[in-house]
Amino acid sequence: MNVKGIVLLVIWLSPVLHLTAADTEEGKKLFQARCASCHNVQKKLTGPALAGVDTRYPEEWIIRFVKSSQSMIKTGDAAALAIFNEYNQVVMPDHPDLIDDQVRSIIAFVKQEAAAAPKDDAPFPRPGHLMPDLMPLSIYNFPFMIAYVLLIVVIVLLLVFLVNIKSIEKKMHESNGEDV
Ligand code: HEC
Repeated sequence: MNVKGIVLLVIWLSPVLHLTAADTEEGKKLFQARCASCHNVQKKLTGPALAGVDTRYPEEWIIRFVKSSQSMIKTGDAAALAIFNEYNQVVMPDHPDLIDDQVRSIIAFVKQEAAAAPKDDAPFPRPGHLMPDLMPLSIYNFPFMIAYVLLIVVIVLLLVFLVNIKSIEKKMHESNGEDV
């Protein structure tokens, strides 16, 4: 692509870029003012972590829920009822003054935040994470413990038998009335 092409592409895309930027900016402000007291993108607070919410429900469902979750619960919306019960029937306040586009901008902000979250990409396994359990012999592992103890008993008996094999042989011959 030549320079002219790139310039044209940028000019053509700029309204789109501008729109999405404005979207998430507005979404961030709204989220902080209206939702952050109960919601975080990554963590559970009073309400669920909102990361991935756009994949859990259709956009239209989220808009209705944010505007008035309780009226959805009263009309028997199964998904709304399920999350309401999961959160011990804590009532999420209605936001009837938010217009659809404002809720969309909040969703866009949540999506952006979720994608920007740092990933756990350590180049080695973290201790206690992916490390194999190298201590099967522990008092908390009874089958292993019993197997080990039995193994040791068997080995000791075998050693005692081997050490005394001569005298045992002698005794057997004697009891058969043979001379050694
Ligand atoms: C007073 C606390 C509170 C505030 C403020 C609040 N919520 Fe909630 N939200 C909850 C609770 C609690 C739930 C769990 C469902 C229920 O109990 O009804 C919830 C559930 C949700 C869900 C469903 C999430 C899921 O994973 O099922 C969405 C979406 C949501 N809230 C969005 C918002 C948005 C957007 C705002 C801001 C405009 C907001 N909430 C403000 C408490 C709150």
